[in-house]
Amino acid sequence: MRLKGKVAIITGAARGIGAAFAGAYAREGATVAIADIDMARAEQTAAAIGPSAFAVRLDVTDQSSIDSAIAEMEKRCGAIDILVNNAALFDMAPIVEITRASYDRLFSINVAGAFFTMQAVARSMIKHKRKGKIINMASQAGRRGEALVAVYCATKATVISLTQSAGLDLIKHGINVNAIAPGVVDGEHWAGVDALFAKYENLPIGEKKRQVAAGVPYGRMGTAEDLVGMAIFLASEESNYIVAQTYNVDGGQWMS
Ligand SMILES: NC(=O)c1ccc[n+]([C@@H]2O[C@H](COP(=O)([O-])OP(=O)(O)OC[C@H]3O[C@@H](n4cnc5c(N)ncnc54)[C@H](O)[C@@H]3O)[C@@H](O)[C@H]2O)c1
Repeated sequence: MRLKGKVAIITGAARGIGAAFAGAYAREGATVAIADIDMARAEQTAAAIGPSAFAVRLDVTDQSSIDSAIAEMEKRCGAIDILVNNAALFDMAPIVEITRASYDRLFSINVAGAFFTMQAVARSMIKHKRKGKIINMASQAGRRGEALVAVYCATKATVISLTQSAGLDLIKHGINVNAIAPGVVDGEHWAGVDALFAKYENLPIGEKKRQVAAGVPYGRMGTAEDLVGMAIFLASEESNYIVAQTYNVDGGQWMS
């Protein structure tokens, strides 16, 4: 029960990694808001977790949606202790084929969405005098560029940079900002990634997943549950002295 009595909001938690974090936080004693644009799925996920989870409508690209989600949280729970900035979108294409619409959409969700959600939650934490924890979801994609993944990689590099700046600025309020950089995590998200690689690298469906899994020193792709330990640690008081860091949780992939 390392998060007993804490209130957490996890963006993009209707499915995938965010849903796994929500279940884990609830098991550790937190009340958890599953904040997502997909309300039907968010309600399902909250119901599966149990009474300590609830769904909140949130579109991170819309400032009024961020503000009303935070207001709803404050009304329902009093204050927020933990934010996981997890909502994100993936897309890829060769440089000469990337559209402005795809570029704008990725930066709007992965960067502006994460930044302004972080800002709104930080303001709420300061107002309520909470020593909060903010965890941003980066990626190994933010550690270096990839030929076909320029824009997504750039958004995740920006998440790492914003984690550093926000971490340094907000610690004076007792708010720790850190990030997790996963490698390749199996799930619905990766089905989409695999299909895009199949298209651009002329591979059969499933082949890119097989290739990336074979390249992970641990011997397989990650699962959402593989990330849960770090997500609990960074949300708990055990990480109070950790500021502005991004942790690889990737089965050794980045190091290799
Ligand atoms: N899966 C991987 O291999 C992997 C690797 C590295 C980093 N990550 C990062 O981890 C995080 C979670 O990844 P995942 O695989 O669980 O993704 P996912 O695609 O399964 O889930 C993303 C969730 O975000 C929600 N969402 C999308 N747009 C939104 C918006 N505008 N407002 C609110 N919610 C929105 C979706 O409805 C969905 O529930 C992301 O930040 C991703 O970039 C994933």
